[in-house]
Amino acid sequence: MLSFKISKPFFKEGPTNMFISIALSSCLLGLIFGIFIYTYLTRSHSPRKQIEGENRCVYIEDGRKEYKTLKKNCDDEQIRLTVVVPAYNESDRIVDMLKETVDHLEKRYRTFGNRGKRLWEVLVVDDESTDSTVDSVLQFSGSLNLGDHVRVCSLKKNRGKGGAVTWGMLHARGQYAIFADADGASKFSDIELLFEHMPKNATGGVVIGSRAHMVNTEAVVKRSFIRNFLMHSFHKLLQVLGVREIGDTQCGFKLFSRFAYRNIYSRMHVEGWIFDIEVLTLARFLRLPIYEIPITWHEVGGSKMTLLKDSIRMAIDLLVIRLNYSFGIWQQPKPKSA
Ligand SMILES: *[C@@H]1O[C@H](CO)[C@@H](O)[C@H](O)[C@H]1NC(C)=O
Ligand SMILES: *[C@@H]1O[C@H](CO)[C@@H](O)[C@H](O)[C@H]1NC(C)=O
Ligand SMILES: *[C@@H]1O[C@H](CO)[C@@H](O)[C@H](O)[C@H]1NC(C)=O
Repeated sequence: MLSFKISKPFFKEGPTNMFISIALSSCLLGLIFGIFIYTYLTRSHSPRKQIEGENRCVYIEDGRKEYKTLKKNCDDEQIRLTVVVPAYNESDRIVDMLKETVDHLEKRYRTFGNRGKRLWEVLVVDDESTDSTVDSVLQFSGSLNLGDHVRVCSLKKNRGKGGAVTWGMLHARGQYAIFADADGASKFSDIELLFEHMPKNATGGVVIGSRAHMVNTEAVVKRSFIRNFLMHSFHKLLQVLGVREIGDTQCGFKLFSRFAYRNIYSRMHVEGWIFDIEVLTLARFLRLPIYEIPITWHEVGGSKMTLLKDSIRMAIDLLVIRLNYSFGIWQQPKPKSA
C-alpha cells in the first residue's frame, strides 16, 4: 500500500509501473531486513575479548596463596586428564562435587596407585561469582595439599556457562579434558565409562554423557509439567534444526581428546547455555567421532536456569548458530587430521 502511494506522483498509472514500484519497495524492505539480521548476527554473538588479568589463576601451596599466569594451548605431557569446572555462585555445592571428583582422580590418575605423581589437574573457572565460591575451593584444596593441581581462575565479567567452559578448555593442558557441572549432578567415576569409548588414536574424539535413557523414568516424570513441556519442545526444535542423532545434547559431562578440544574450543562463538550445540556442530564439521554414553544422573535443586527467559534465549541461539554457519558468516572448519 505504502509503495503505491509513494510511486503515484512519479510513475504513470498502469500495471507495469505498479509492479515495478512494488518490486522496488520489497527489495528495499528485504535489504533493510537483511542488514538488520546481519548486524544482529555479527554484533550479538562474538565472544568478548579477554580482560587483562583474567588468565591469572590462584592456588594454595603450603597454606599460602600463589598466583600464576596461564598460557593458552599449552600441552603438558605429565597431565593425562584436565577437569574443567565452570562455577557461578556455587559455594554451597562445589565442595561436595570436588570431593567426589578428587577422590576418583587420586585413585585412578596417579602413578603407583594413590602415592605417586598426580596426572590430573582441576581448573575451576569462576564466572564472576559474588559469593564465596573461590574461597570454598581454595580452602578445600589447601586442606588436602593439592597444590597447583587445583587452580581457580576468576573471569572479570560474567560470560555464561559456555564462555566459562570455553575459557577453561583453552587453558587445559591434559591429553584429555572433561567439563563437569559444579552441582555434582553426574557421578564423576562415570568418566571411566566415557573413556571406554574414547578412540585411542591420535585424533581421539568426543564422548558425551547422556541422560536420554532417563526420559521416561521417575526422576524426569517427577519434574514439573512446564519443565517437561519445555524439554520436549526443545527436543523437537533441535530435530527440526538438524541435531538429530544425539539424544541429549545438554548434559554437563563431556570428554574430549586434546585434538578435539583444541580444535573445537578455538572456534567457539556462543557463550550461553546453548553452547553445547555449537560444540557438537563443530565436532561434526571436523568429522570427529562422537559417542553418547548413558550415565548416572540425579536432579539437583536450585538450577540456575530461569525457565522462560533461558528457553527463549536458547531458541534464538539455536537459530543463530544454524544461520551463521549456513550463510557462511561463521566459517565452517574443514575436517582435519592429527
Ligand atoms: C550470587 O550470590 C550473591 C551473594 O550470595 C547474591 O547477592 C547474588 O544475588 C547471587 N546471584 C545470583 C544471580 O543468584
Ligand atoms: C581414530 O579412530 C576413530 C574411531 O575408530 C576413527 O573414526 C578415526 O578416523 C581414527 N583417526 C585416525 C587418525 O586414525
Ligand atoms: C561469524 O563469523 C565471522 C567470520 O568467521 C566473524 O567475523 C563474525 O564475528 C561471526 N559472527 C558473529 C555473530 O560472531
